[in-house]
Amino acid sequence: MRKPVTLITGANGEIGHGLIEHFGRAGGHELVALDLKPLDERLRSHCTAWLDGDILDQNLLQRLVSEYEIHAIYHLAALLSTRSEYTPDTAHRVNVEGTLNLLMLAHQQASWHGHHVKFLFPSSVAVYGLPDLETKRRAGRVREIDYNEPTTMYGCNKLYCEQLGRYFALHFRQLAVERTPSGVDFRSIRFPGLISAVTLPAGGTSDYASEMIHAAAQGKPYACFVRDSARIPFMAMPDAIKALVLLADAPPERLTRRVYNVTSFSPSAGEIRDRVLKAFPRATITFETHAARAAIVDSWPEDVDDTPARRDWNWSPDFGADRTFDEYLVPTISKFYKADGKCRK
Ligand code: SER
Repeated sequence: MRKPVTLITGANGEIGHGLIEHFGRAGGHELVALDLKPLDERLRSHCTAWLDGDILDQNLLQRLVSEYEIHAIYHLAALLSTRSEYTPDTAHRVNVEGTLNLLMLAHQQASWHGHHVKFLFPSSVAVYGLPDLETKRRAGRVREIDYNEPTTMYGCNKLYCEQLGRYFALHFRQLAVERTPSGVDFRSIRFPGLISAVTLPAGGTSDYASEMIHAAAQGKPYACFVRDSARIPFMAMPDAIKALVLLADAPPERLTRRVYNVTSFSPSAGEIRDRVLKAFPRATITFETHAARAAIVDSWPEDVDDTPARRDWNWSPDFGADRTFDEYLVPTISKFYKADGKCRK
């Protein structure tokens, strides 16, 4: 008998850490973790198994299904937005072909065991593309259907994979003589920039917020690559995990869409600096704009409208700006660096 499990790809990443720790505490899930690198030792006790390997490796995926019966997939593996600009073809392979591989695997699994496979997919504010700052200011809180014209490879990849997921959930093989549903219950969240107290992001563009506070806590100077007036939405990692879990648990009949915005607070980079300086008064934070990376941030909305998530699955963030800094980031990060002098990667 194969074991029923929840598969988490990109398990070593920022969301992976938060999610595996959450499931570890909550119990009730047999987790199989997949990542390019060996799983962080701190996460291993929460997992039934872990594999290091590539989501593009079909042999590895087939090995997985020969051993496990997969009932839910949190497909977190991706190349983030800055890194994707340096290697757009690799980004397309990992972000799009990798997602297609996992969607097909979910479909095969559902056909075998006869139950839906829940497929949770983190999308991003990077799917939006605002043409200029004046439009961005006027647009304010954008809805899911607004300004879907991303400027980055990563944004294009995420937007297309949202559509792929919708196709699997609603229109799979629509011309087959005996049409059967794919069995993939695709659900996606467009996350704002995420800030974690215990991991640092790698290769993203919203990373300046995390980098600023982690640098300050270690007494290192930080030069921020966007203007101090740059503004996009952010969220503390515990709220991102809460959103994923709430959406995964929502009864299907409550869901009016497959893709949902969520958000918490929308500080400018200057306001983030002020909060970091309040907590770490000796920090040195300067602004040295990298024009191209700053332009990516300028193309993302300053806020998003998350009304459908609030209405359909009772979404609301626990951490506003004050609580994020005062109760989550500052105490956890301070303790963290005092404890071992370095941050988990
Ligand atoms: N935060 C991510 C990035 O900056 C976007 O989802 O790439």
